Formats: sequence, structure tokens, C-alpha cells
Amino acid sequence: MTDARPPAGPSGVLERYAEWLPISDATPRISLGEGSTPLVRADALARRCGAAEVWLKLEMCNPTASFKDRGMVVAVAKAIEQGATAVLCASTGNTSASAAAYAARCGLRAFVLVPGAKIAQGKLAQAIAHGARVLAIDGSFDDALCIAREVTEELPVALVNSVNPYRIAGQKTAAMEIVDSLGDAPDLHCLPVGNAGNITAYWQGFSEYFHAERASRRPRMLGVQAAGAAPLVSGKVVEQPETVATAIRIGNPASWDGAVAARDASGGAIVAVEDAQILEAWQLLASEEGVFCEPASAASVAGLLNADPSELAGKQVVCTITGHGLKDAELVEQIDSDMIRLSADYGAVASALMEGLS
Ligand code: F0G
Repeated sequence: MTDARPPAGPSGVLERYAEWLPISDATPRISLGEGSTPLVRADALARRCGAAEVWLKLEMCNPTASFKDRGMVVAVAKAIEQGATAVLCASTGNTSASAAAYAARCGLRAFVLVPGAKIAQGKLAQAIAHGARVLAIDGSFDDALCIAREVTEELPVALVNSVNPYRIAGQKTAAMEIVDSLGDAPDLHCLPVGNAGNITAYWQGFSEYFHAERASRRPRMLGVQAAGAAPLVSGKVVEQPETVATAIRIGNPASWDGAVAARDASGGAIVAVEDAQILEAWQLLASEEGVFCEPASAASVAGLLNADPSELAGKQVVCTITGHGLKDAELVEQIDSDMIRLSADYGAVASALMEGLS
């Protein structure tokens, strides 16, 4: 039995992709209705970058509003199967929101270790609302992950970061879903890279489908990092990563080798984009495509817009939109918009409308 019901089709990642996951009859089929996210065409973006087709995989439409739910549902189900009563993760925010939600639903305790100074308010609000114990450290995400790994070796708490292979197994289902929707793998897949679990998982998903002949090819992978936090581009750990996209403010990705393998085996690339380019892509997605994502998610689109148009001609491209804009809504203050303040009066509103229409 699953415990969520979408309008049609199998419910949740454990149910829909059971045969591709390391689960058995002993694994509880928990669900918040994650997965089965929309894949929408982005024609304005296609025109701008010169590709034949661009599609956005809206992973922000998962239950806690980020892609993390796909992996978290598997990690938490396996933790329960193995008798755990508490989970812990280090996080820039989204993993903690997801861990907190699934733990709350399943009656587990959740502990989340976050960089005190750099976490978007919406994500913190989620962790708090779900009743997680939030431990805000005076340090970076990289410090937090290091401590999380050590402490879970000693204490009876399951680590649910993407170093947990069940997380990767769940996240790979996004790649499978894209192939299921398009009928084959795209030519190019773009996604933001922080701790590098997601690019590792997508490559695994595309590869498993390819080997099972569910897809005739695998895409080139384009991983995109923020210029101030781009260890996979420079090949060197970044001691003090800095970027407006706090979700990917990471200097020493745990899945470094997985990201490099995905890049090399796919004939792809991992590139860096400036914060200004991330914010430009973020605003463009909201104002031209109707997709309000968080800045880290827009990094993939910024990378696509930076690509050589001659390499994109005739190509089908998918960009993963990893998290929702409402998680980091304070950032909207950066947009130069002109809110018009009026008296509560018909004439004032009508003249403002006429001015706007002219
Ligand atoms: N986009 C968003 C919105 C994220 O939250 C993350 C990672 C990424 C992209 C990068 O994915 O780490 O698999 O390369 N967020 C993690 C967290 C680190 O703690 O929520 P990745």
C-alpha cells in the first residue's frame, strides 16, 4: 500500500521505479507523492540558446519543493527497514527540508546540520515546521558534512546525505522519467552541481536505461557550478566557496569522482558561471517561462545560455530545475521592480492600469 494518490499512474518513486531500486518486500512503501514531475517545453529559452528544443524538468514540483525527495524517500525507507529511529544530514537547506519531512511522516527523529550563516530562510522554515532539530554550525557545508560522516559512525543515527547510496539510487529515477516522457534520452542534459550527487545519479539513471535498451543513447552531461564555488572546474578544493546560489556553495563535493566520470564518459563538460549570469537566468526563467526557481537551479540554464550556439543547433536539451524560488524569496529584492503604492480608490487603480497598458 502506498500512502499518496496522484490522479493517475503509480504513486511515488518506490512504487513507480521499484524494479530499478535496491528495495525488497521488507522495504516500507512510504511516499509523499514524490516524482512524476512535469517536463515542460521552454521555447523562449530554445530561441535564445539556438537549440531545437529545450525542456525543463520541474523537480521543484516535488513535495518539499526540491529534487531531494526522490533520493530521500529511498534513504528513509531503507533506514526504517534497517531499524533506525533517527536520521541526520548536513545540508545547504534542501536536503534538510526533505529529511525533516520524511522523518516527520515516518515517526523518526531528524537532526540537520546546516551552515549557520548561509541558508535560505524558506528551507530553514521547512526543517523547523517538520520538527527537525536544527544544528546551525559556525562553518561551511563542507565542515558540516565532515562532522556528519564522523558522528554517524559513532552514534545510532542514519546518515541521509548523498554519500548514502540509496539517495543516489532514488535520484537516478529523474533521468529515467525524462526518457519515459520523451521516448529517448535527450542530446544534452544540463544540471547545477554542488555536492555532485545529482549529476552522478542522473548519469547512472541514463546508463541503466541505455543498457536495458529503454533508450538508444545517453546524453552529453553539462554540469554547471557557480564561479566562486567551482572545484570541479579548477580541479582543486575551494576552501572558502562563495556564491549567491547558497544551495551549491560547496568547495569539496563528496561525489567528485562520480561527477568527473559522468562528464568524461558522456563527452560532456563541467563549467562555471558568474553569479550575475545565474541571477540573469533566474529572472529570465521567471519572466519569460513562468518558472520561479531558486538561484542554484538557474545555474543550469545560465550554463546553457553560455554554450556555443553552433553546438546546440538541431539538438534536444533538458535542464533540471532543482528547487523552488519561494525557498529563497528574499532574493527577489534584487530585482529592480516598481511596486506602485496607491490609495484604495477606483480612480487611482484605473489610471495606474491605463498607464500600464499604454
Ligand atoms: N540545486 C539545488 C536547489 C540544491 O539544493 C542542490 C544541492 C543542488 C542543486 C546541487 O545538487 O549537491 O547533488 O550536486 N543541495 C544540497 C543540500 C547540497 O544540502 O540541499 P548536488
